[in-house]
Amino acid sequence: MNNSQMKEGLTFDDVLLIPQKSDIDSRKDINLSVNLHPQIKLKIPIVSSPMDTVTESEMAIAIARQGGLGIIHRFCSIEYQVKEVERVKRAENYFIENPICVNPEITLEKLLEISSDYNFQTFLVVDEKKKLIGLISKRDYFLEENLKKKIKYLMTPFEKLVVSYKKISLKEAKEIFKKYKIEKIPIIDKNRKVKGLVSLRDFQYSLNKKAARDKKGRLLVGATIGVRGDYLERAEELVKADVDVLCLDIAHGHLNKSLKVIREIKRKFNNIPLIAGNVATLEGARDLKRAGADIIKVGIGPGSACTTRIVTGAGVPQLTAIMMAKKGVGDNTPIIADGGCKNSGDIVKALAIGASVVMLGSLLAGTDESPGEIFNFKGKRVKMFRGMSSKEAYRNKIRITNDSPEYEPISEGINYGFIEYKGSVKEVLINLEKGIRSGFSYCGAKNLKELWKKAKFIKITDSGYKESQPHSVNFLD
Ligand code: XMP
Repeated sequence: MNNSQMKEGLTFDDVLLIPQKSDIDSRKDINLSVNLHPQIKLKIPIVSSPMDTVTESEMAIAIARQGGLGIIHRFCSIEYQVKEVERVKRAENYFIENPICVNPEITLEKLLEISSDYNFQTFLVVDEKKKLIGLISKRDYFLEENLKKKIKYLMTPFEKLVVSYKKISLKEAKEIFKKYKIEKIPIIDKNRKVKGLVSLRDFQYSLNKKAARDKKGRLLVGATIGVRGDYLERAEELVKADVDVLCLDIAHGHLNKSLKVIREIKRKFNNIPLIAGNVATLEGARDLKRAGADIIKVGIGPGSACTTRIVTGAGVPQLTAIMMAKKGVGDNTPIIADGGCKNSGDIVKALAIGASVVMLGSLLAGTDESPGEIFNFKGKRVKMFRGMSSKEAYRNKIRITNDSPEYEPISEGINYGFIEYKGSVKEVLINLEKGIRSGFSYCGAKNLKELWKKAKFIKITDSGYKESQPHSVNFLD
């Protein structure tokens, strides 16, 4: 290697987008939707990071409702991860095919346990032959103090229920909800066997046209796997739980082992889209694509809680990494720009250089929907945030999954980070979306394809960077 071969690598703060003549009158005229795959259509180009302080079911539900996608982390047991996926898939439906049914002999205490497990308050009650004998909702048990009482004494019995003997659409259900002032319609066959359930809440949810859904009206969700240990069993269980996209997520994705795993996963689950990463080079992206990955995840070392570049000396500044990956895979294989976005401006830059969506960690952490408790630190309300290659995250995984710690890898992430509490992630996403729309408008682009074509970058100096920051004024926020 000699210095003449040394390439220049640029990242977000090294460049700006050059403003261009635009015929866009309103930010509303900009279409931010993106098809990551025929089964993965998003309305905003944002995916949440599979970190244990960012994405579990609550985050995935909230982001899908805003039109993005959440990827559930794998730093937990298979059962836990699968349950989180199921929670997302059960959060909204056009028609609930497999409603959760309970036995009339269980106590109210047990019902409350099931209720908190699934985050639902209404359940169908069936006998041992799966015949519908009642329905139990909050109205039936809210005021009951005796937790040992069996639910058969609390439920609304079959005779008092409004049911349908054929499958009905939400539109048809609306009239029945209105007429009988009810919230649930069990669907049964002539032997009273449960065939489904239609819920008023789902009707209300269906009015949100922005949500990222599958064809059954359920919210989209992804989940990660690794390349060692239980990855295959994990993938199988996630697919059984109807996960929409698998994400092979390892720190250094350009490994023979990952290419092998990509081929194996695509052979076994051909119809499930596969994201694979992380890479930061043309060759890396191209090899993952050739092995069968549908979507390539790019980013070695740009993450906010990441110390890879410091510990190993390896990495590529993120804008250059995205640009090189794009050269490796072309326009038809989407790229997820993973890590390093500090604001909506960085998101626009990542998209403009060739990404289809960005993956966000710290920007979405510290919200109501990110896992973990709010606590006080030096007078500020904060939530925990840590790198997933940190020693702490690794030890926690070993503790939870009972994996045998063959060797403890070198830590490549922050152990005890925290993010100031930000409130609801919906607000965060709405603000990011506004910024992204404005960014498209400055580039004169009505959609992502136009942005790719029209965007022009200018490299800036330290003085240009300083000028870009607020300066010469004191402010309070
Ligand atoms: P941001 O900047 O959005 O980045 O917080 C999120 C991304 O950071 C990556 N990540 C790590 N990278 N060591 C790393 O090298 C780590 O411990 C670590 N934890 C997260 C990851 O790609 C995530 O999506």
